Amino acid sequence: MPIRTRITELLGIEAPVVQGGMMWVGRAELAAAVSNAGGLGTLTALTQPTPDDLRREIERCRALTDKPFAVNLTILPSVTPPPYAEYRAAIIDSGIRIVETAGSKPQEHVEALKAEGITVIHKCTSVRHALSAQTMGVDVISIDGFECAGHPGEDDVPGLILIPAAADKLSIPMIASGGFGDGRGLAAALALGADGINMGTRFCATKEAPIHENVKQFIVGNDERATNLIFRRFKNTGRVARNSISDEVVRISLQPDAEFKDIQPLVAGARGRAALESGDVEGGLIWAGQVQGLIHDIPDCKTLIGRIVDEAETIIAQRLAGFLAPAQTAVSA
Ligand SMILES: Cc1cc2nc3c(=O)[nH]c(=O)nc-3n(C[C@H](O)[C@H](O)[C@H](O)COP(=O)(O)O)c2cc1C
Repeated sequence: MPIRTRITELLGIEAPVVQGGMMWVGRAELAAAVSNAGGLGTLTALTQPTPDDLRREIERCRALTDKPFAVNLTILPSVTPPPYAEYRAAIIDSGIRIVETAGSKPQEHVEALKAEGITVIHKCTSVRHALSAQTMGVDVISIDGFECAGHPGEDDVPGLILIPAAADKLSIPMIASGGFGDGRGLAAALALGADGINMGTRFCATKEAPIHENVKQFIVGNDERATNLIFRRFKNTGRVARNSISDEVVRISLQPDAEFKDIQPLVAGARGRAALESGDVEGGLIWAGQVQGLIHDIPDCKTLIGRIVDEAETIIAQRLAGFLAPAQTAVSA
Protein backbone atom coordinates (compact mmCIF):
# COMPACT_ATOMS: atom_id res chain seq x y z
CA MET A 1 0.00 0.00 0.00
CA PRO A 2 1.58 3.34 -0.93
CA ILE A 3 2.31 5.88 1.83
CA ARG A 4 0.39 9.09 1.14
CA THR A 5 1.21 12.28 3.03
CA ARG A 6 0.83 16.03 2.50
CA ILE A 7 4.28 15.92 0.88
CA THR A 8 3.50 13.24 -1.71
CA GLU A 9 0.29 15.11 -2.60
CA LEU A 10 1.84 18.59 -2.76
CA LEU A 11 4.97 17.60 -4.68
CA GLY A 12 3.30 15.02 -6.93
CA ILE A 13 5.66 12.20 -5.93
CA GLU A 14 5.02 8.55 -5.09
CA ALA A 15 7.23 8.13 -2.02
CA PRO A 16 7.72 10.69 0.79
CA VAL A 17 11.49 10.63 0.28
CA VAL A 18 13.48 13.70 -0.82
CA GLN A 19 17.13 13.98 -1.84
CA GLY A 20 18.51 17.21 -0.38
CA GLY A 21 20.78 19.58 -2.27
CA MET A 22 24.39 18.38 -2.16
CA MET A 23 27.37 20.38 -3.35
CA TRP A 24 29.23 18.48 -6.12
CA VAL A 25 26.88 15.47 -5.76
CA GLY A 26 23.47 16.92 -6.68
CA ARG A 27 23.84 16.53 -10.44
CA ALA A 28 21.42 15.32 -13.10
CA GLU A 29 22.35 11.60 -12.83
CA LEU A 30 21.42 11.43 -9.14
CA ALA A 31 18.45 13.81 -9.16
CA ALA A 32 16.86 12.00 -12.11
CA ALA A 33 17.47 8.58 -10.53
CA VAL A 34 15.77 9.66 -7.28
CA SER A 35 12.81 11.14 -9.15
CA ASN A 36 12.49 8.10 -11.43
CA ALA A 37 12.43 5.95 -8.28
CA GLY A 38 9.39 7.89 -7.01
CA GLY A 39 11.13 10.34 -4.67
CA LEU A 40 12.08 13.97 -5.24
CA GLY A 41 15.54 14.45 -6.74
CA THR A 42 17.31 17.79 -6.37
CA LEU A 43 19.95 19.53 -8.47
CA THR A 44 22.35 21.77 -6.57
CA ALA A 45 22.50 25.15 -8.29
CA LEU A 46 25.94 26.23 -7.04
CA THR A 47 27.59 22.99 -8.19
CA GLN A 48 27.28 24.51 -11.65
CA PRO A 49 30.00 27.11 -12.32
CA THR A 50 27.62 29.63 -13.93
CA PRO A 51 23.84 30.22 -14.19
CA ASP A 52 24.02 29.14 -17.86
CA ASP A 53 25.61 25.85 -16.81
CA LEU A 54 22.70 25.42 -14.41
CA ARG A 55 20.27 25.95 -17.32
CA ARG A 56 22.06 23.18 -19.25
CA GLU A 57 22.08 20.87 -16.20
CA ILE A 58 18.32 21.33 -15.79
CA GLU A 59 17.85 20.37 -19.45
CA ARG A 60 20.11 17.33 -18.94
CA CYS A 61 17.99 16.27 -15.96
CA ARG A 62 14.79 16.72 -17.99
CA ALA A 63 16.22 14.40 -20.62
CA LEU A 64 16.71 11.74 -17.93
CA THR A 65 13.33 11.98 -16.18
CA ASP A 66 9.81 13.17 -16.84
CA LYS A 67 9.06 13.18 -13.10
CA PRO A 68 9.17 16.26 -10.86
CA PHE A 69 12.59 17.32 -9.57
CA ALA A 70 13.78 20.33 -7.57
CA VAL A 71 16.73 22.73 -7.57
CA ASN A 72 18.54 23.67 -4.35
CA LEU A 73 19.71 27.25 -3.81
CA THR A 74 22.02 27.49 -0.79
CA ILE A 75 22.64 30.97 0.56
CA LEU A 76 25.72 30.92 2.79
CA PRO A 77 27.76 33.82 4.16
CA SER A 78 30.65 34.48 1.78
CA VAL A 79 33.27 37.16 1.22
CA THR A 80 32.59 36.99 -2.53
CA PRO A 81 29.02 35.70 -2.85
CA PRO A 82 27.99 33.90 -6.05
CA PRO A 83 25.47 35.77 -8.26
CA TYR A 84 22.44 34.38 -6.44
CA ALA A 85 19.88 36.46 -8.33
CA GLU A 86 21.24 35.16 -11.65
CA TYR A 87 21.10 31.54 -10.49
CA ARG A 88 17.54 32.21 -9.32
CA ALA A 89 16.66 33.65 -12.72
CA ALA A 90 18.07 30.52 -14.40
CA ILE A 91 15.83 28.38 -12.16
CA ILE A 92 12.75 30.46 -12.94
CA ASP A 93 13.42 30.76 -16.69
CA SER A 94 13.95 27.01 -16.93
CA GLY A 95 10.42 26.38 -15.64
CA ILE A 96 11.44 24.61 -12.41
CA ARG A 97 8.36 24.17 -10.16
CA ILE A 98 10.02 23.13 -6.87
CA VAL A 99 12.97 24.87 -5.18
CA GLU A 100 14.77 23.93 -1.97
CA THR A 101 16.25 27.02 -0.34
CA ALA A 102 18.79 26.70 2.46
CA GLY A 103 20.98 29.02 4.47
CA SER A 104 20.56 32.48 5.89
CA LYS A 105 18.27 35.34 4.88
CA PRO A 106 16.23 33.61 2.16
CA GLN A 107 13.48 36.28 2.05
CA GLU A 108 14.41 37.96 -1.24
CA HIS A 109 14.60 34.55 -2.95
CA VAL A 110 11.44 33.18 -1.37
CA GLU A 111 9.47 36.26 -2.48
CA ALA A 112 10.77 36.06 -6.06
CA LEU A 113 10.12 32.32 -6.33
CA LYS A 114 6.64 32.55 -4.78
CA ALA A 115 5.77 35.38 -7.19
CA GLU A 116 6.28 32.80 -9.97
CA GLY A 117 4.05 30.26 -8.20
CA ILE A 118 7.01 28.00 -7.43
CA THR A 119 6.70 25.58 -4.51
CA VAL A 120 9.41 26.49 -1.99
CA ILE A 121 10.86 24.02 0.50
CA HIS A 122 13.01 25.88 3.02
CA LYS A 123 15.59 23.83 4.87
CA CYS A 124 16.59 25.07 8.30
CA THR A 125 17.87 23.79 11.64
CA SER A 126 15.71 25.40 14.32
CA VAL A 127 12.04 25.85 15.20
CA ARG A 128 12.41 29.64 15.25
CA HIS A 129 13.84 29.75 11.73
CA ALA A 130 11.15 27.31 10.55
CA LEU A 131 8.46 29.60 11.95
CA SER A 132 9.93 32.69 10.32
CA ALA A 133 10.14 30.85 6.97
CA GLN A 134 6.50 29.80 7.35
CA THR A 135 5.57 33.44 7.97
CA MET A 136 7.64 34.39 4.91
CA GLY A 137 5.33 32.19 2.84
CA VAL A 138 7.31 29.03 2.08
CA ASP A 139 5.22 25.94 1.31
CA VAL A 140 7.22 23.28 3.14
CA ILE A 141 9.82 23.19 5.91
CA SER A 142 12.66 20.70 5.77
CA ILE A 143 14.14 20.55 9.26
CA ASP A 144 17.68 19.29 9.76
CA GLY A 145 18.55 17.75 13.14
CA PHE A 146 22.00 17.83 14.74
CA GLU A 147 22.77 14.40 13.21
CA CYS A 148 22.83 15.78 9.69
CA ALA A 149 25.66 16.17 7.23
CA GLY A 150 26.25 19.74 6.15
CA HIS A 151 25.37 22.63 8.45
CA PRO A 152 23.42 21.54 11.56
CA GLY A 153 23.37 25.06 13.06
CA GLU A 154 24.61 25.99 16.52
CA ASP A 155 21.79 24.73 18.79
CA ASP A 156 22.76 21.02 18.76
CA VAL A 157 19.17 19.76 18.99
CA PRO A 158 18.81 16.23 17.58
CA GLY A 159 15.90 15.15 15.41
CA LEU A 160 14.14 13.23 18.16
CA ILE A 161 13.37 16.58 19.83
CA LEU A 162 13.58 19.01 16.90
CA ILE A 163 11.05 17.24 14.66
CA PRO A 164 8.15 17.01 17.15
CA ALA A 165 9.00 20.47 18.54
CA ALA A 166 8.68 21.87 15.00
CA ALA A 167 5.56 19.80 14.28
CA ASP A 168 3.90 21.32 17.36
CA LYS A 169 4.38 24.84 15.99
CA LEU A 170 4.10 24.57 12.20
CA SER A 171 0.92 24.41 10.16
CA ILE A 172 2.57 23.77 6.77
CA PRO A 173 3.93 20.33 5.76
CA MET A 174 7.30 19.36 7.16
CA ILE A 175 10.08 17.07 5.97
CA ALA A 176 12.36 15.54 8.61
CA SER A 177 16.04 15.60 7.72
CA GLY A 178 19.30 14.42 9.24
CA GLY A 179 20.09 10.85 10.18
CA PHE A 180 17.59 9.12 7.89
CA GLY A 181 18.63 6.11 5.89
CA ASP A 182 16.07 3.33 6.16
CA GLY A 183 12.39 2.49 6.66
CA ARG A 184 12.67 2.65 10.43
CA GLY A 185 13.66 6.29 10.04
CA LEU A 186 10.76 7.02 7.70
CA ALA A 187 8.23 5.38 10.07
CA ALA A 188 9.77 7.28 13.01
CA ALA A 189 9.66 10.61 11.14
CA LEU A 190 5.98 10.10 10.35
CA ALA A 191 5.33 9.19 14.00
CA LEU A 192 7.11 12.36 15.15
CA GLY A 193 4.82 14.53 13.04
CA ALA A 194 6.73 14.89 9.76
CA ASP A 195 5.24 14.27 6.31
CA GLY A 196 8.34 12.68 4.81
CA ILE A 197 12.12 12.44 5.02
CA ASN A 198 15.06 14.18 3.38
CA MET A 199 18.35 12.31 2.96
CA GLY A 200 21.83 13.38 1.90
CA THR A 201 24.54 10.95 3.04
CA ARG A 202 22.43 7.85 2.24
CA PHE A 203 22.06 8.99 -1.38
CA CYS A 204 25.85 9.48 -1.68
CA ALA A 205 26.21 5.72 -1.26
CA THR A 206 24.04 4.78 -4.24
CA LYS A 207 25.03 3.47 -7.64
CA GLU A 208 23.92 6.66 -9.39
CA ALA A 209 25.69 9.18 -7.11
CA PRO A 210 28.27 10.87 -9.38
CA ILE A 211 31.21 10.38 -7.01
CA HIS A 212 34.12 7.92 -6.88
CA GLU A 213 33.43 4.34 -5.74
CA ASN A 214 36.09 4.71 -2.98
CA VAL A 215 34.01 7.46 -1.35
CA LYS A 216 30.91 5.26 -1.39
CA GLN A 217 32.90 2.37 0.18
CA PHE A 218 34.35 4.83 2.75
CA ILE A 219 30.80 5.77 3.82
CA VAL A 220 29.80 2.09 4.01
CA GLY A 221 32.89 1.31 6.09
CA ASN A 222 32.30 4.21 8.52
CA ASP A 223 30.20 3.95 11.66
CA GLU A 224 28.00 6.49 13.43
CA ARG A 225 31.02 7.95 15.28
CA ALA A 226 32.93 8.75 12.11
CA THR A 227 32.12 12.45 11.80
CA ASN A 228 33.77 15.67 12.90
CA LEU A 229 32.18 19.03 13.65
CA ILE A 230 34.19 21.78 11.99
CA PHE A 231 33.86 25.60 11.89
CA ARG A 232 32.36 25.60 15.41
CA ARG A 233 34.41 28.53 16.58
CA PHE A 234 33.35 30.50 13.48
CA LYS A 235 29.64 29.87 14.28
CA ASN A 236 29.11 28.10 10.95
CA THR A 237 29.28 24.51 12.17
CA GLY A 238 29.64 21.80 9.55
CA ARG A 239 29.40 18.03 10.02
CA VAL A 240 31.79 16.11 7.80
CA ALA A 241 33.21 12.59 7.68
CA ARG A 242 36.15 12.00 9.95
CA ASN A 243 39.42 11.80 8.01
CA SER A 244 42.94 13.20 8.42
CA ILE A 245 41.88 16.55 6.94
CA SER A 246 38.88 17.11 9.22
CA ASP A 247 40.90 15.86 12.23
CA GLU A 248 43.54 18.46 11.39
CA VAL A 249 40.90 21.20 11.01
CA VAL A 250 39.54 20.35 14.46
CA ARG A 251 43.05 20.29 15.95
CA ILE A 252 43.99 23.69 14.51
CA SER A 253 40.63 25.22 15.45
CA LEU A 254 41.17 24.30 19.11
CA GLN A 255 44.29 26.52 19.28
CA PRO A 256 43.35 29.60 21.31
CA ASP A 257 44.38 32.08 18.59
CA ALA A 258 43.15 30.10 15.57
CA GLU A 259 41.72 32.11 12.67
CA PHE A 260 39.83 30.97 9.59
CA LYS A 261 42.84 31.59 7.37
CA ASP A 262 44.73 28.88 9.31
CA ILE A 263 42.35 26.19 8.08
CA GLN A 264 41.35 27.72 4.74
CA PRO A 265 43.73 25.66 2.57
CA LEU A 266 42.45 22.44 4.15
CA VAL A 267 38.74 23.21 3.71
CA ALA A 268 38.82 24.60 0.15
CA GLY A 269 35.80 23.48 -1.86
CA ALA A 270 38.03 22.55 -4.81
CA ARG A 271 39.92 20.13 -2.58
CA GLY A 272 36.69 18.45 -1.41
CA ARG A 273 35.50 18.19 -4.97
CA ALA A 274 38.81 16.58 -6.02
CA ALA A 275 38.47 14.02 -3.20
CA LEU A 276 34.96 13.06 -4.39
CA GLU A 277 36.15 12.74 -7.99
CA SER A 278 39.51 11.01 -7.47
CA GLY A 279 38.43 8.76 -4.60
CA ASP A 280 41.27 9.98 -2.37
CA VAL A 281 39.23 9.99 0.84
CA GLU A 282 42.04 11.67 2.78
CA GLY A 283 42.44 14.41 0.16
CA GLY A 284 39.82 16.94 1.33
CA LEU A 285 36.61 17.38 3.30
CA ILE A 286 33.95 14.75 2.64
CA TRP A 287 30.58 15.91 3.91
CA ALA A 288 28.70 13.07 5.62
CA GLY A 289 26.53 12.55 8.68
CA GLN A 290 26.12 10.15 11.59
CA VAL A 291 23.74 8.04 9.50
CA GLN A 292 26.90 6.48 8.07
CA GLY A 293 26.42 3.97 10.90
CA LEU A 294 23.22 2.75 9.21
CA ILE A 295 24.63 2.50 5.67
CA HIS A 296 25.85 -0.97 4.74
CA ASP A 297 25.52 -1.20 0.97
CA ILE A 298 25.49 0.72 -2.33
CA PRO A 299 22.09 0.06 -3.94
CA ASP A 300 20.55 1.88 -6.90
CA CYS A 301 18.03 4.59 -5.98
CA LYS A 302 15.02 2.51 -7.05
CA THR A 303 16.05 -0.37 -4.78
CA LEU A 304 16.83 2.02 -1.92
CA ILE A 305 13.58 3.99 -2.03
CA GLY A 306 11.49 0.84 -2.61
CA ARG A 307 13.09 -0.83 0.38
CA ILE A 308 12.64 2.23 2.63
CA VAL A 309 8.94 2.48 1.79
CA ASP A 310 8.37 -1.29 2.13
CA GLU A 311 10.12 -1.38 5.49
CA ALA A 312 8.18 1.63 6.78
CA GLU A 313 4.89 0.08 5.66
CA THR A 314 5.69 -3.17 7.45
CA ILE A 315 6.65 -1.34 10.63
CA ILE A 316 3.46 0.74 10.60
CA ALA A 317 1.07 -2.06 9.61
CA GLN A 318 2.62 -4.93 11.55
CA ARG A 319 5.16 -4.03 14.22
CA LEU A 320 3.36 -0.94 15.54
CA ALA A 321 -0.15 -2.31 15.00
CA GLY A 322 0.97 -5.45 16.86
CA PHE A 323 1.53 -3.43 20.01
CA LEU A 324 -2.15 -2.62 20.22
CA ALA A 325 -3.29 -5.46 22.46
CA PRO A 326 -6.90 -6.54 22.04
CA ALA A 327 -9.08 -5.58 24.99
CA GLN A 328 -8.92 -8.16 27.78
CA THR A 329 -12.16 -9.95 28.50
CA ALA A 330 -13.02 -9.47 32.16
CA VAL A 331 -12.86 -12.69 34.09
CA SER A 332 -15.74 -12.97 36.54
CA ALA A 333 -15.04 -14.28 40.01
C1 LIG B 1 28.02 15.68 0.29
C2 LIG B 1 26.97 16.60 0.85
C3 LIG B 1 26.88 17.90 0.38
C4 LIG B 1 25.87 18.76 0.88
N1 LIG B 1 25.75 20.02 0.34
C5 LIG B 1 24.67 20.78 0.67
C6 LIG B 1 24.44 22.01 0.01
O1 LIG B 1 25.21 22.45 -0.85
N2 LIG B 1 23.32 22.71 0.37
C7 LIG B 1 22.45 22.25 1.30
O2 LIG B 1 21.44 22.91 1.55
N3 LIG B 1 22.65 21.10 1.97
C8 LIG B 1 23.74 20.34 1.65
N4 LIG B 1 23.92 19.13 2.27
C9 LIG B 1 22.94 18.68 3.29
C10 LIG B 1 21.87 17.77 2.72
O3 LIG B 1 21.06 18.40 1.76
C11 LIG B 1 20.92 17.24 3.83
O4 LIG B 1 20.27 18.31 4.46
C12 LIG B 1 21.69 16.42 4.86
O5 LIG B 1 22.64 15.60 4.23
C13 LIG B 1 20.74 15.56 5.65
O6 LIG B 1 21.43 14.79 6.59
P1 LIG B 1 21.89 13.27 6.30
O7 LIG B 1 23.18 13.38 5.56
O8 LIG B 1 22.03 12.70 7.67
O9 LIG B 1 20.82 12.61 5.48
C14 LIG B 1 24.95 18.28 1.86
C15 LIG B 1 25.09 16.97 2.34
C16 LIG B 1 26.07 16.13 1.85
C17 LIG B 1 26.15 14.72 2.37
